[in-house]
Amino acid sequence: MAPAWHSMIYHEILIHSQAMDKLLLRRGFASSSRSLHKTVDKKAAAAKKYHGDNVKYGSLSRAQRAFLDRVVRVDQAGELGADYIYFGQYTVLASKYPHLKPVLQHMWDQEIHHHNTFNKLQTERRVRPSLLTPLWKAGAFGIGVSTALIGKEAAMACTVAVETVIGGHYNQQLRVLMNQFNDVPVYDKETGEKLKEADLPRDVATSSELRELKSLISQFRDDELEHLDTAIEHDAEKAVPYLLLTEVIKLVCRGAIWTAERV
Ligand SMILES: [Fe+2]
Ligand SMILES: [Fe+2]
Repeated sequence: MAPAWHSMIYHEILIHSQAMDKLLLRRGFASSSRSLHKTVDKKAAAAKKYHGDNVKYGSLSRAQRAFLDRVVRVDQAGELGADYIYFGQYTVLASKYPHLKPVLQHMWDQEIHHHNTFNKLQTERRVRPSLLTPLWKAGAFGIGVSTALIGKEAAMACTVAVETVIGGHYNQQLRVLMNQFNDVPVYDKETGEKLKEADLPRDVATSSELRELKSLISQFRDDELEHLDTAIEHDAEKAVPYLLLTEVIKLVCRGAIWTAERV
């Protein structure tokens, strides 16, 4: 049988080794926690590191490019139409109803701005305009003048119909831009390395071109909805026959959008 001091020494060794294990475990944990921190820091550094100038974006697919061209073509035609509708309304109503003059002028000015913006985009992106541009001009001016001749309420009902359709149309475009342009690859400009979305700050994950287009469309959508509110405030619903008038104009607008996207 082993002497008692043997078991005492054995016991001492056991306690020491357990303490050592604990120490190593703690150190191990500390080092793995340190490496975890390092990974987090690295990610944070990577996220900070990238901005618009040191990344490059992969090319869009053919369908994405075609969609953007269609957006510019149809929106340019639509804003041209809106510009001419207000031109027609202003021509008939401004002198007859002085209190409406600044209201119509404000909405018309915004449409001129929308129209000019899409004209510029069309030139920059070399998108061919709708082939039916002369028809859009004449048709829109005709709608503006004829509704205004029926009465100021009918002109406002026309604005309600047009802005309802255009507001919905812009929202539809925004949905596609948010959902169908997330797969465009982003690369480190220097190394050419493909970057993960998680490593990029949010505003760098999509190209400035797409970001600007989205913010432009949402700004214009808000302006159109403001025009809709203005028209309701100025007795659009008192137009007779309100429903027939607005539904027919909505139908015409939807038809024009469908055509301008294609022709
Ligand atoms: Fe507009
Ligand atoms: Fe508008």
